[in-house]
Amino acid sequence: MELILAKSAGFCFGVKRGVDIADKFLTENKTVYSLGHMIHNKCVIEKFEEKGMIVEEDIDNIPDNSDVIIRAHGVPLEVYNKLKAKNINIIDTTCINVQKIHDLVLEYSNLGYTIIIIGKREHPEVVGIQGWVNGESYIIESIDEVDKLKRIKGVAVVSQTTFNKDKSQAICDKVQEICEEVVIHNTICSATSVRQEEAKKIAKEVDAMIVIGDKKSSNSNRLYEISKEICKNSIFIEKNDELDLKFFEKFNKIGVTAGASTPKDIIDEVCDTIASL
Ligand code: F3S
Repeated sequence: MELILAKSAGFCFGVKRGVDIADKFLTENKTVYSLGHMIHNKCVIEKFEEKGMIVEEDIDNIPDNSDVIIRAHGVPLEVYNKLKAKNINIIDTTCINVQKIHDLVLEYSNLGYTIIIIGKREHPEVVGIQGWVNGESYIIESIDEVDKLKRIKGVAVVSQTTFNKDKSQAICDKVQEICEEVVIHNTICSATSVRQEEAKKIAKEVDAMIVIGDKKSSNSNRLYEISKEICKNSIFIEKNDELDLKFFEKFNKIGVTAGASTPKDIIDEVCDTIASL
């Protein structure tokens, strides 16, 4: 049996940076608050909680003068203002790619553009991006939703960094048909594009495909969607103990990829199990 592991599997540089900053801080200090889960991976969060991280969604529940981590997904502008009002020490791990989108939507909305954010409505990154818009904005999740837009003049479009590249392109094309003076910013993270392209390539070559990631991880879900479209024997697991070994015994070539918030030790464990078949 041959195993093909995607080179791009696992932590992207933004998640790695955030995790390293949090880890260093937790090693030096006793307690640090995190505004929501730092990354979509239960195993990593549990380890951090053991080291003294307190996950809190509501700023009102965080004591004044505390240390607070902002995750790689970023947060709305008003969150910074609320934290500063409580004299909180902000440990900002917002990914630089997400910061760039915040800057773009602020700049273009200040120029009078309507902002369209292509992404999942409830995703923290999308909520954060919308929170930097100074004016009108719309979140578009699917091409059908573009029809609901009026003929807006002066539109700037950005995408959630982990959104499906092809779907984003299709939505952008439709926005250009419907609206006037459209400026498209390609904000899909290159780490995500590379990962999605590699998943496509491997899925074409193998008999079965394993995508490892947390079920809440947007980019892991996209990888699974992409793999499943090409290779019907694709499965999505969070960790090794979910592997149904009987299912994999009949295959000669198995591909493995993992989302941007999946730690290396979890990927290694799955690969070791598959290699031992
Ligand atoms: Fe940043 Fe891209 Fe990762 S936006 S958090 S490097 S997926």
